[in-house]
Amino acid sequence: MRLLLFGPPASGKGTHGDRLSESLRIPEISTGNILRAQVSLRTPLGLQAGRLMERGELVPDQLMVDIIEERLRRPDCHRGFLLDGFPRTVAQAIALDRLLQAMGVRFDRILYLAVPEEELVRRISARLTCSVCGRSYAFDHTQPRPDHCEDDGGLLLVRDDDRPETARRRILVYIENTFPVLDHYRAQGLVSEIDGRGPIEVVAKRILAVLGHDLPAPDLKATERFTPGAGETPAGAGRQ
Ligand code: AP5
Repeated sequence: MRLLLFGPPASGKGTHGDRLSESLRIPEISTGNILRAQVSLRTPLGLQAGRLMERGELVPDQLMVDIIEERLRRPDCHRGFLLDGFPRTVAQAIALDRLLQAMGVRFDRILYLAVPEEELVRRISARLTCSVCGRSYAFDHTQPRPDHCEDDGGLLLVRDDDRPETARRRILVYIENTFPVLDHYRAQGLVSEIDGRGPIEVVAKRILAVLGHDLPAPDLKATERFTPGAGETPAGAGRQ
């Protein structure tokens, strides 16, 4: 199964990507997580990407396309994959079409998580992220703020690009550069729009209802945990 989770910042791509990756046993490829791993390793790519990410800007298309091509050609993608955060421009979408065609595969479905802007702002302002594993926590401003990750005790911090000015810029960049990608896939008849509002479990059921049409039931019931490729997603990133 080859899926794309599409949506604005904080629409729930990471949250549902983790769940789907586990239940479908396909790797979740999050370009945001790949870039954040490079930033923390202070690689040349990480230094370049970090400067753009902290301003809420996009990393250049060709860099992203090269990263995705290398990743999709790894053996763990042979039986499927779930993309989160790529493509983010029409140029990236066109490059991805060419790559998938060369690999002889195509998307089964594009899942578009639709969430209104005021809810995105609310979620971003309530998110804390573990500095060790990347797990995100939604905290309630009326309750004492949690300090440490339940999994590994890592310090919980506000993600650099979740600060209000940068978050606003990310939403604008999404509207201007990324939202048009939906039309590219609508023209291919691949988009299913999912109401991303409401409790996480309710949204998860909506996603499964859509995929139920595309998938044999046993895949949805798979319980064996899928192990992501090395050097990629920090364990549990985006998970609640
Ligand atoms: P990336 O990491 O992809 O950021 P994003 O798209 O802004 O997405 P987020 O991680 O903020 O949110 P999400 O949709 O995963 O939501 P989540 O599940 O965490 O990219 C970061 C940066 O990298 C970009 O700005 C860019 O600079 C660069 N980049 C990445 N890819 C690129 C590319 N292809 N080209 C160029 N540059 C690229 O949920 C958010 C919060 O809401 C969590 O706290 C969660 O618990 C909570 N939540 C989720 N669902 C619900 C719900 N139903 N109800 C209440 N709360 C909920």
